[in-house]
Amino acid sequence: MNTPPIYLDHQATTPLDERVLEAMLPFFTSEYGNPSSPHTCGRTAARAIRTAREQVADLVGAKNELEIVFTSGATEADHLAIVGAALAARPHGGHIVTTAIEHKAVLAACQRLVDHHGYTLTRVGVDAHGRVHPADVAAVLTPNTVLVSVMHANNEIGTLQRLAAIAEITAPRGIVLHTDAAQSVGCGLLDVAELGVDLASLSAHKLHGPKGIGALYIRGGLRITAQQTGGGQERGLRAGTPNVPAIVGFGAAAHLITTDAVPPPPRIRALRDRLQDRLLAAIPGATVNGHPHRRLPGNLSLTLPGIEATDLLDRVPGIAASTGSACNTGSGEPSHVLTAIGLTRDQARATLRLSIGRTTTDTDVDQAADLITRTAHTLVPAPANAA
Ligand SMILES: Cc1ncc(COP(=O)(O)O)c(C=O)c1O
Repeated sequence: MNTPPIYLDHQATTPLDERVLEAMLPFFTSEYGNPSSPHTCGRTAARAIRTAREQVADLVGAKNELEIVFTSGATEADHLAIVGAALAARPHGGHIVTTAIEHKAVLAACQRLVDHHGYTLTRVGVDAHGRVHPADVAAVLTPNTVLVSVMHANNEIGTLQRLAAIAEITAPRGIVLHTDAAQSVGCGLLDVAELGVDLASLSAHKLHGPKGIGALYIRGGLRITAQQTGGGQERGLRAGTPNVPAIVGFGAAAHLITTDAVPPPPRIRALRDRLQDRLLAAIPGATVNGHPHRRLPGNLSLTLPGIEATDLLDRVPGIAASTGSACNTGSGEPSHVLTAIGLTRDQARATLRLSIGRTTTDTDVDQAADLITRTAHTLVPAPANAA
């Protein structure tokens, strides 16, 4: 049997936790009811969804489970949030604001409003650490602005944004604040009340839950226009028979985090720092992207000068990692995030994203550091006096 690679791509997706799988299994077989059915089978499924909704609400600090709407993932949640909130607020204005480093799901949803609904869009830039300055957001707001969307943590460089400071600017003006929190929610970093956001997009597969399920947190009382209509499920905000096993799995994965049944972020941060220290010491000129402290605990975006990251990864099949983000991989275009923080096209192409997660071990980190260092030295030989 082939040895599996050392998995350092937890920001692309995470392995399903076995306890999550166990919670899901009955809903594929014996508990197959449609939650809309009024009989016992339907009621069992509806109860399971209610529990999962409470578990996800608890994870993000929502007031109650009615603030959670299940979707097929963060991509759909981004579209429902951005298009749905902007359309509902159309009588108040047609200007929306986002940032230069958003996930493509957010950028595409904003573009949809521009192309099909006549909105104007402003993209705020970031500093060299990938941080959005709240004053820069304030500077572009107009009386016509109805929505601001700023991601909580970046999927490539891990930088965390000061959402609470941005909310202090948007809330008094009645502007809706959305955040894509797909990357931060699994680290227990998202508290919607503390951050003051109105809408937050979530995804289960980034937190050891199943793929194809996510949710949108919608602050109670906020109006949004449904994007998928039909049978009236999810209180009319997302029609379609719910994916019961996946929703149960999302709830179970959330519950593992809120009950501290998983390795805590400091353990992941310590492994990340060990990998970072080893690679910086061994590869001359290597630099870390993203904010030095205010970034996701498992994220390591490294630029290795003179090296094509795809070339390096091709030569180390024993490591599963990413160049830039998984979503940009294969497009041939340098990442818009890396260029937004000021990297040249060559530097962007020389950038690896290594992401540590719950399943990463000390041995994984040490072996990966050795393999990457050796391969980097074959591609760009280290000077004689380098470590
Ligand atoms: C920041 C961010 N937003 C959205 C998504 C898309 O999530 P999903 O795969 O659940 O649609 C991802 C996943 O890569 C992400 O990292």
